[in-house]
Amino acid sequence: MYAHTPILVDKVLEYLDIKETDTLVDCTLGEGGHSYHFLQRLTKGKLIGIEQDEVILNRAKERLKKFGERFIPIHSNFSNIKEILTDLGFKRVNKIFFDLGVSMFHIKESKRGFSFLKNEDLDMRLDPSKNISAKDVVNNFDEKKLAKIIWAYGEERFSSRIAHFIVEERKIKPITTSLQLSDIIKRAIPKKFWPKRIHPATKTFQAIRIFVNDEIEILENALRDAVKLLEPEGRVCVISFHSLEDRIVKSVFGDLAKGCICPPDFPVCICGRKKEIKVLTRKPVLSDEKEVRENPSSRSAKLRCAEKLSDAQEQTNFSEKVIA
Ligand SMILES: C[S@@+](CC[C@H](N)C(=O)[O-])C[C@H]1O[C@@H](n2cnc3c(N)ncnc32)[C@H](O)[C@@H]1O
Repeated sequence: MYAHTPILVDKVLEYLDIKETDTLVDCTLGEGGHSYHFLQRLTKGKLIGIEQDEVILNRAKERLKKFGERFIPIHSNFSNIKEILTDLGFKRVNKIFFDLGVSMFHIKESKRGFSFLKNEDLDMRLDPSKNISAKDVVNNFDEKKLAKIIWAYGEERFSSRIAHFIVEERKIKPITTSLQLSDIIKRAIPKKFWPKRIHPATKTFQAIRIFVNDEIEILENALRDAVKLLEPEGRVCVISFHSLEDRIVKSVFGDLAKGCICPPDFPVCICGRKKEIKVLTRKPVLSDEKEVRENPSSRSAKLRCAEKLSDAQEQTNFSEKVIA
């Protein structure tokens, strides 16, 4: 039996700075590991937990039922955050949290082929009601498209060779299991180039999973929506697990923290852009050695947090110039 241990809990709690009456949205509820800590602090507030996997959502419901009506579980994708909050009657909320990616449940117990070490059905859908699975991708996409996915979402330098080996293998028999795919990848990468610290199939599995679940494409809009939905002085915290995600978080935060973009010699601002947030984490916060030792999956976690500016704090270039 595995246990999903929430990551960077103390830091997340420090940055979210939860008040007892807050309304908090956990966009990636998982098994409710972080939310358990949030709800302990939300003694007069509410927690809306969004999760796209119904199996894991049911586990969270069980774990968090003692918090009664303060916990509102929602089976959906966080890309629908705006509609979800509107339907529930919330215009704005105080805190929003994302802990991206998959849970330990998916790797260890879901039997959906997330692990390259297990012989399972090659599915990889976080929401099994979605129509495209990893099996569809590896058996039907053309070689060029496969290589592109493996490169774009896995940054795997042998992407073209792996795509070629996949296409050759499926001419013989369909690729239906995770172990079959993992063996193909191992054959495609010359042994002398196998990475030292990770399994040779790690990057390709990551790439296919990201593609199947549309993980990267939805993130930017969801983050921008989240910031719009925050009350002034509300906070958003995001834990990401690979560089593609972290780049998006960093760039969206950087963009929203930027005010006027008019050329410096303009006497007045004509772009009308205002700073929407203040970034609270200049550099991403990482797990310390103790956490990595106790929970190796925290090794690649990066936490970034930002605070929504109140209208009074929003500044245009114009006011800055006047002050200057
Ligand atoms: C890293 S786990 C979160 C673990 C959780 N913080 C805990 O401590 O139990 C990420 C969870 O988010 C869910 N998830 C990922 N992307 C999602 C999305 N776009 N919408 C809703 N849920 C998502 C996954 O199914 C997974 O259960």
